[in-house]
Amino acid sequence: MMNILGNGAIGNLLALQCHKLHLDYCILARSQAPTELLCRAIEQTPQSHHSQPSFSTATALHPVYHQETDSIDDGLFILPLKAYQIIPAIEQYKAKLSPEVPVALLHNGMVDQQHILQLLPSNPIIVATTSYGGFKPQPNKLNITGIGATQAGWLRNSVDNPYFQSIFEKLLPPCTWHSDISLILWRKLAVNAVINPLTAIYNIPNGALAQPQYHNTIMAINAEICTLMNRLEMPVTEQQLLSNCMSIIDKTAANYSSMHQDVLHNRKTEIENINGYVVSQGKILSIPTPINSHLLEQVRKIETYSGKK
Ligand SMILES: NC(=O)c1ccc[n+]([C@@H]2O[C@H](COP(=O)([O-])OP(=O)(O)OC[C@H]3O[C@@H](n4cnc5c(N)ncnc54)[C@H](OP(=O)(O)O)[C@@H]3O)[C@@H](O)[C@H]2O)c1
Repeated sequence: MMNILGNGAIGNLLALQCHKLHLDYCILARSQAPTELLCRAIEQTPQSHHSQPSFSTATALHPVYHQETDSIDDGLFILPLKAYQIIPAIEQYKAKLSPEVPVALLHNGMVDQQHILQLLPSNPIIVATTSYGGFKPQPNKLNITGIGATQAGWLRNSVDNPYFQSIFEKLLPPCTWHSDISLILWRKLAVNAVINPLTAIYNIPNGALAQPQYHNTIMAINAEICTLMNRLEMPVTEQQLLSNCMSIIDKTAANYSSMHQDVLHNRKTEIENINGYVVSQGKILSIPTPINSHLLEQVRKIETYSGKK
């Protein structure tokens, strides 16, 4: 049984794939979820289609719980959540997770990995990031906006988990496994730390960042992150980060970033886990991060989110 936490966009993509692969799955939603899920592929995908996977809800928790111990005792437990939701969700569910249940974290931005390892002292843990795209116009609808790729690694891999690894890599394929997932997460952080705050602050699509007036700011953000990465012994150059970032700006030129959308729709952003994480690492390593700090403050100011969780 695949246990997917939350009725969100990436969670629904995972549910759809479980449905296609004939894997048992359960979406653990916060509240009563719809009885069916309508998925529609739009934009970059050649064949648009409608699909109606079976849809489990929080009220259908029982199949994933061990009858006597009231614990989740088999399958992967996947958390495709906003970065700031990961720790509270683990705190909420950890008592129900048997120590051998593999937990998979799928998010943008950075989460305190030491805290996760403490909260789950023995579970195997996968950390992954994906470039698939989706958004939910309604609770029972998923629009698939991009077929991407996934990069994954084990934060903790007890003994051997080829079975769960082979299942996980089929969920948002193609999936590449990395022995050092930190480097991948930092490289993605470098891109997110540029695209997300700048598109949100200036209310522009990703592609507008290719205009010359943003060039110095992008270089400065990358330079701060490169210094941190080098101090953490990650082999990367400013030029590599810059060219990776400009290539993603080019490939996603027509898209609006998730932070742009979050600000537009008064939702909490992931800024604390993106530029906020860069600033916090700068403090720990005594490396100045004035540009990231400035962006953090600017996004905090425009974030009108009233704070519900
Ligand atoms: N969507 C994309 O295209 C995309 C692409 C690449 C990467 N990502 C990244 O993937 C992560 C997930 O993104 P997303 O777009 O799927 O987010 P999302 O649509 O907001 O999904 C998260 C879902 O989980 C629910 N949730 C949070 N905590 C929960 C809990 N403790 N119990 C039950 N449900 C809980 C949320 O409910 P509430 O709404 O009530 O909070 C929400 O429905 C983010 O880090 C994002 O940046 C997204």
